[in-house]
Amino acid sequence: MAEVTLYFPEDFKWGCATAAYQTEGDNPNSEWWAWEQGEGHIADGQKSGQACDWWGDGFLTDLDWMARLNNNAHRLGVEWSRIEPQEGTFDDAAIDRYRFMLKSMCERGIEPMVTLHHFSNPIWIAERGGWETPDILPLFERFVSKVVESLKDLCSLWITINEPTIYAVVGYLLAGLQDGERHPLIFPPGKSDLWLTLAVLENILLGHGGAYHAIHRLQPEARVGIAHNMQMLDPLHPHSLLDRLVIALQDRLMNQSVLAAQLPGRIPRLFGSRRVRALRDSCDFIGLNYYSRELVVFDRKSPQTLFGRRVQNPDGEISDGSYGEVYPRGLYRLLKRVGRYGKPIFITENGLPDHDDDRRPAFLINHLKQVWHAINENVPVKGYYHWTLTDNFEWAEGWNLRFGLVELDPATQKRTLRKSGELYSEIGKANLLNTDMVRRYAPELMGTVFKG
Ligand code: FCB
Repeated sequence: MAEVTLYFPEDFKWGCATAAYQTEGDNPNSEWWAWEQGEGHIADGQKSGQACDWWGDGFLTDLDWMARLNNNAHRLGVEWSRIEPQEGTFDDAAIDRYRFMLKSMCERGIEPMVTLHHFSNPIWIAERGGWETPDILPLFERFVSKVVESLKDLCSLWITINEPTIYAVVGYLLAGLQDGERHPLIFPPGKSDLWLTLAVLENILLGHGGAYHAIHRLQPEARVGIAHNMQMLDPLHPHSLLDRLVIALQDRLMNQSVLAAQLPGRIPRLFGSRRVRALRDSCDFIGLNYYSRELVVFDRKSPQTLFGRRVQNPDGEISDGSYGEVYPRGLYRLLKRVGRYGKPIFITENGLPDHDDDRRPAFLINHLKQVWHAINENVPVKGYYHWTLTDNFEWAEGWNLRFGLVELDPATQKRTLRKSGELYSEIGKANLLNTDMVRRYAPELMGTVFKG
């Protein structure tokens, strides 16, 4: 069999993505901390606790792991609730701590990308209605300005908002759709109202616009984007017009909305759209989060989800906890789609829950092959951030879903490199993927992976 080598561009960024709340631990001023105390909110009543101890020594330990994985980039978050624990009171010690974290990364040749909002709000913001009203917009902009002013000598790559559409749906829609069983994706405040969901989405997109300009005022050379979770939706019945119609509706709100907001500056509404001048071209790069594919079937009893019900592919490969269908081609399809806008693209998250690490090596190889294909068709992909470095607190799923290249025992804080971590380290070091890696890490793919 011919030996194949897929080379990546010379300045390609290889990293992992993390979120502040999921890694730092001991975060009592966040609404998530309060939410965790509520009965039935987190699987098996688990708690984030110390998480990966990034507010303590765990950060330096994981920094060594980043270096060992040959990462030259890392996406991390800052917590609003630490920096501004009470309205208008900024905590200098927290800012110094983030300065230390970014400095330590830069010293090791790891370029930071900082997320300003990743799902969690300070309790005082939640008490004021969070993103339900535009009242939050000046408050968010003030927080963003404070952060950028304080960190701009250490970072120039910013994500304003992580996954606007997911944030709106899991906090404001899904709670009403559960049938008896605990839904794995219900986030605070756990409401269920389609109109409120749309209002939250609109406000958070406006929040991005304000943040985009505030950052550029303070740091003209900054590169700013959104980490957008794009859903790969295919019809359950490929020939059904109704299935395709509901996909078009869901796609408009879940996928196209964020692209339309930050590029032509139009926020789609259920009927029509709202033009916002400040949002137009508020995008220096497109951040793409991609996980899995879902099939959609028309269901007239499901108006809250625009008459489309999500189902898992009965013939698909499904990851731990029925999380989703492993569908590498989806990454290529989405890259081609967003590539049309001509903006640089970072894959800001991609990964799977896989406690035994028996799928992750093949997952990495198959997905990176698709990235390589897209790059070779001139899609300007500049970097790949795997979700995630070490196992961390997976929101409502607690510690049940393990996404790490490095295994973490949260009780002892012991870390153990997974085989997939070794593979990722080799890929980053050589800046390529080849047959020899497939042979050693995912022999089940030999003979098929590099065909076609
Ligand atoms: C993404 C989130 C991230 C993590 C992964 C598994 O949607 O941005 O925080 O939960 O899923």
